[in-house]
Amino acid sequence: MIFKEKVVWITGASSGIGEALVYEFNKRNAKIIISARRIDELERVKNNCKNIENIRIIQLDLENHDVIEEKANQAFSFFGKIDYLINNGGISQRSLVSETHLNIDKKIMDVNYFGTIALTKAVLPNMLSRKTGHIIVISSVAGKIGTALRSAYSASKHALHGFFDSLRAEVWKENIFVTIICPGYVKTNVSVNAITADGTAQNSMDENSENGMLPEILAEKIIKAIKNKKEEVNIGGPEMVGIYLKRCMPRIFSSIIKRRKAV
Ligand SMILES: NC(=O)c1ccc[n+]([C@@H]2O[C@H](COP(=O)([O-])OP(=O)(O)OC[C@H]3O[C@@H](n4cnc5c(N)ncnc54)[C@H](OP(=O)(O)O)[C@@H]3O)[C@@H](O)[C@H]2O)c1
Repeated sequence: MIFKEKVVWITGASSGIGEALVYEFNKRNAKIIISARRIDELERVKNNCKNIENIRIIQLDLENHDVIEEKANQAFSFFGKIDYLINNGGISQRSLVSETHLNIDKKIMDVNYFGTIALTKAVLPNMLSRKTGHIIVISSVAGKIGTALRSAYSASKHALHGFFDSLRAEVWKENIFVTIICPGYVKTNVSVNAITADGTAQNSMDENSENGMLPEILAEKIIKAIKNKKEEVNIGGPEMVGIYLKRCMPRIFSSIIKRRKAV
């Protein structure tokens, strides 16, 4: 019942993890603002919900930072507040450092890092004035470890940890919570949409994604982490061992990751 009548803004709501989160919050009678670039996909997600008067759409390109303040004002105009901001929208990468133009690195940082923090900064003043709010960010196992072909993606997710850990240290006394979720492999289109060295999408699904956790299972676990006001949670399969190996046995971890087939 804790989400009934609460206002949740979810980015990257047009597919995958974000879409699954929309349905979980909808089941729990929350009011939901759904955002992404593709309006037709957001309409589809909305139409799959019950009580569609509780769902509002805001088209949002996280790469276009100049409009984010205005988008936040639009969000506040719907239900007057945001209780939960779920920073989920993002893109992945499949390219070697040596082949990747700096513009691609900048694009990934612009979407995954600067877009996310711009939106957070636009929503934060309202939470601070109300002395309540919860900001959730979907990082990745790549936010904890770096692997081949993911340099900018991994950097963007690592950067989120620095930012949101700092934010938590500033706002906890204002009754604002920050939760960082680090999923492992999830069966979504993340690898299909991942950008390659020339900026085009990979357009095929990796085997690891194909065999990954279902987004609806992850969404349930994310809801549980939010309810329990967890600060950070790792959710995934055997791939999560890498996080603990890197922390506890960094040299062994490094020799494994160097020999791992780049996918
Ligand atoms: N799947 C995994 O294995 C996995 C693992 C760890 C972390 N994650 C993270 O989970 C999040 C969701 O990914 P997913 O797995 O659900 O992949 P997905 O199915 O490709 O979904 C990505 C979402 O982000 C949106 N998006 C992409 N670029 C955007 C932009 N410039 N502005 C606004 N929205 C944008 C997409 O919508 P539009 O194209 O309509 O804009 C889509 O809704 C990402 O942050 C990803 O890094 C995924």
